Amino acid sequence: MAETIRDPKTMRTRVLEARAAGQRVGFVPTMGALHSGHLSLVEKAKEACDVVAVSVFVNPSQFGPHEDYEQYPRMLEADKALLEPMGVQWIFTPDVKDIYPYGPSGNSTTIVVGGVGDLLEGLIRPGHFSGVATVILKLFHLVPAHSTFFGAKDWQQTRVVHQLIEDLHLSIELVVCPTIREADGLAMSSRNRYLSPDERRRAVAVVRALKKAKELWQATVPLAEIESEMRKIMEEQGFSVDYAVVVDSESLEPTLCAGEKIALVAGRIGTTRLIDNCLLSQD
Ligand code: PAF
Repeated sequence: MAETIRDPKTMRTRVLEARAAGQRVGFVPTMGALHSGHLSLVEKAKEACDVVAVSVFVNPSQFGPHEDYEQYPRMLEADKALLEPMGVQWIFTPDVKDIYPYGPSGNSTTIVVGGVGDLLEGLIRPGHFSGVATVILKLFHLVPAHSTFFGAKDWQQTRVVHQLIEDLHLSIELVVCPTIREADGLAMSSRNRYLSPDERRRAVAVVRALKKAKELWQATVPLAEIESEMRKIMEEQGFSVDYAVVVDSESLEPTLCAGEKIALVAGRIGTTRLIDNCLLSQD
């Protein structure tokens, strides 16, 4: 049976004890409202590690002032019911005041990400990646695991975490796992539940835009044309598009240099903001 832990010190002690006993520890950070995407991360962690910790913490510092922090779904009992049969060792559910003893904004120590955190989502959601990196660093300290598992759907977030690990010389392995999709291709997201049935139907334009990008990329169509085609497909379905770009998959810079490219899109349908991406390869 999974142990639910609220106290950060207890959480850290449990992991250090497991490590001392020779166990490999995996860590899946989440904000709860778990879906199959999260559960696939837990599965990967279970495959690779002896014991797995999952954190459920809606992190206030990564939400902008007009974003959905208050409305963000909180359903701890349902989350626990999903995690329990998966053989998770610990479910870490700290309070905001324990993670942010000086408050989530203003007076507390924060990470300035720079680099990959200043582009795309970083421009549209100022402070978002600072909040993500700050909470992730705290969580990595409280759950000192060998490996951590993140979903490729939040591609830029994985690049920010990669940069954080390299820059601060953290000794944790980052494992990026494939995006899990609904039957029609829409990437699983806790925010999909905000969509009305009509918006849900139109939301699949995101997937069509990315598929088109891949097709055009393979036909060596110029990047600017691919980007405007993606934007058009989403706008036709009523999206207000924040960006639809093809960039280097590591730096996220719009470079023409060799190296893997990725198509990244973000847009709002009604009041719901969706993001998704697709790696562009020749196969
Ligand atoms: O991807 C998320 O759910 C969050 O950004 C994370 C990584 C749990 C940090 O709060």
